[in-house]
Amino acid sequence: MTRVRESLFNRTDPLRIGEAEPAYSPDAGLPASADSTAEPSIVSESEEWIAIRRHLHRYPELSGEEYETTAYLRERLENLGIRIVDYGLETGLVAEIGSGEGPIAALRADIDALPIEEETGLEYASTRPGRMHACGHDFHAAVLIGAAQLLKRREAELPGTVRLLFQPAEERAKGARQLIQAGVLQGVGAVIGQHNKPDLPVGTIGITAGPIMAASDGFTVTVRGTASHAAVPEAGIDPIVTAAHIVTALQTITGRSISAQERAVVSVTQVHAGNTWNVIPDTAVLQGTIRSFDESVHSRIKERFAEIAGGVASAFGAEASVRWSGGPPPVVNDAALTALAGICAHGLGLRVAEGITSPASEDFSFYQQQVPGVFLFVGTSGDREWHHPAFELNDAALPGAASLLAELAVRTLLHLSETVEEEA
Ligand code: NI
Repeated sequence: MTRVRESLFNRTDPLRIGEAEPAYSPDAGLPASADSTAEPSIVSESEEWIAIRRHLHRYPELSGEEYETTAYLRERLENLGIRIVDYGLETGLVAEIGSGEGPIAALRADIDALPIEEETGLEYASTRPGRMHACGHDFHAAVLIGAAQLLKRREAELPGTVRLLFQPAEERAKGARQLIQAGVLQGVGAVIGQHNKPDLPVGTIGITAGPIMAASDGFTVTVRGTASHAAVPEAGIDPIVTAAHIVTALQTITGRSISAQERAVVSVTQVHAGNTWNVIPDTAVLQGTIRSFDESVHSRIKERFAEIAGGVASAFGAEASVRWSGGPPPVVNDAALTALAGICAHGLGLRVAEGITSPASEDFSFYQQQVPGVFLFVGTSGDREWHHPAFELNDAALPGAASLLAELAVRTLLHLSETVEEEA
């Protein structure tokens, strides 16, 4: 907390923005400015953002059930005088800052929690059994409220409109598609998102162009054999032994069919077969996921997967069928927006870490299929990874992240205005 305050809010030097476009005045930067009277209020505002984060943490709601969360966020936005835009959403909400004229940049935060029993022992721990903000979406929502407050203050000077997307159901990879279907990307020239990253220190932002989070696909393999008495296996075809060989052989995909330069994961996460100790069943079912960052790797994995499942099953006289359920594509950051994010982070005194990627997936990628986007990793100095019951966030990261989003939104609007002028 202290360190961020010092670096962001107690500075007396003007914003350092080395490659600023001539049209952009550093003094227009957010939130720090040459006007030192603005600084203490930001510090007190950040206390409020942290209180918002902790409130959301106490009352987590699962994907698609974010009713109270939505109402709470709506109230916070209305208190800030920010206009809510009705897209007919069941949960989640959209708001706008700016005149409604000019280019539109979208800032997105996800708001849903996970079906996990919290084990942090924190004073503001979840009050709901089996529900927890274990991926930090409470943090993302609070960061976006913070950015909104900073942007609202400069609404009159905004070179366009900032659309705030508080997205439900990220954990089920549904929310982004729901919002897109509702039309939230209409007129949007760029989309910006963020995710906390416990393995990066507070004050550091992961900013990387290109693919940074993996495509995710789910699979179900059904192995069909022939049931028999457990004492007479030769009378049947054992799907359990066959499935065990398939599980082992699938691990050779990443080790033997994908280059060491490429990144991919194949994980079997469920094995189901049989219901008693003395009968060999006729069917075994495997489920799991594959992760990849690149389309050619993605298709190679699926090709080898089918060959291995089918080939191993046939070697045992069994049959295997593979069913895929497609998840989000990879998160791929736009080069120009990534460069802008780097300039903004440096300007705010934040450290920039490049090359930070994650094999997890994010439905933010669905927005990026429609419009250029950038997804940032906000360092939060945590001991536990996402989705762990003892996952904790360091709130000292919140003010910096909010300032960065606000600053990047302004920069992006300027960038979009220039792009339009060039094309005209
Ligand atoms: Ni998440």
